[in-house]
Amino acid sequence: KKITIAIDGFSSTGKSTVAKQIANHLGYVYVDSGAMYRAVTYYAMQQGFIDVNHFDIEGLVANLKTIDIRFKFNNKFGFAEVYLNDMNIENDIRTLEVSSFVSKVAEISEVRQKLVEQQKQLGKDGGVVMDGRDIGTVVFTDAELKLFMTASAETRAERRYSELIERGDAVTYEAVLKNVQERDYIDSHRKDSPLTKAKDAIQIDNSNMTLQEQFDKILELVNV
Ligand code: C5P
Repeated sequence: KKITIAIDGFSSTGKSTVAKQIANHLGYVYVDSGAMYRAVTYYAMQQGFIDVNHFDIEGLVANLKTIDIRFKFNNKFGFAEVYLNDMNIENDIRTLEVSSFVSKVAEISEVRQKLVEQQKQLGKDGGVVMDGRDIGTVVFTDAELKLFMTASAETRAERRYSELIERGDAVTYEAVLKNVQERDYIDSHRKDSPLTKAKDAIQIDNSNMTLQEQFDKILELVNV
């Protein structure tokens, strides 16, 4: 039977890397729910609804209907890429700038409603691995396997920093750490479905685990 796997946790806990591997191994669909919040944020930046000085929440909410988010599988890379109104934005949404606004956009109830509904649709037939902040607590409360990934803020910032440097982005470790800590705070304090571990989720602290160890551990949990 194809099950539903919900993986939640703080920013840059390495959820997506292991989630993709598990999905590929099981022949499941992987959905990066954070990419959807990032897509809405990117749209808001493009349309001038958000910048460092202002945030026009009403303007963004009024235009939510015009936002079409889709995932298309890329055979070359072996995972799905995110499209905003038919434009491939997979690379554009991973910048520190998008990261600096995304948690504020994710606080908006109307944004969450829209994305949660689409996420439920994407996973309605099972055989899905979805990662995010509220997958086990809101999106798939009945998921057969729920995981909650944790790691120290420093470990997470180091990982995110290396990713950004590898992409060629000009960032400092301090700025990345600050962003990770800010998002942790906003994500766990917002009034609408704040980030918490679902009661029935299994916690995995991967600070000192290799990717292979995480993969093996999760596969073991899938098979029990
Ligand atoms: O997973 P990622 O770090 O790409 O997510 C970016 C942001 O999107 C998070 O910091 C959080 O504010 C928001 N998010 C959310 N609910 C989810 C997934 C992401 O609020 N299910």
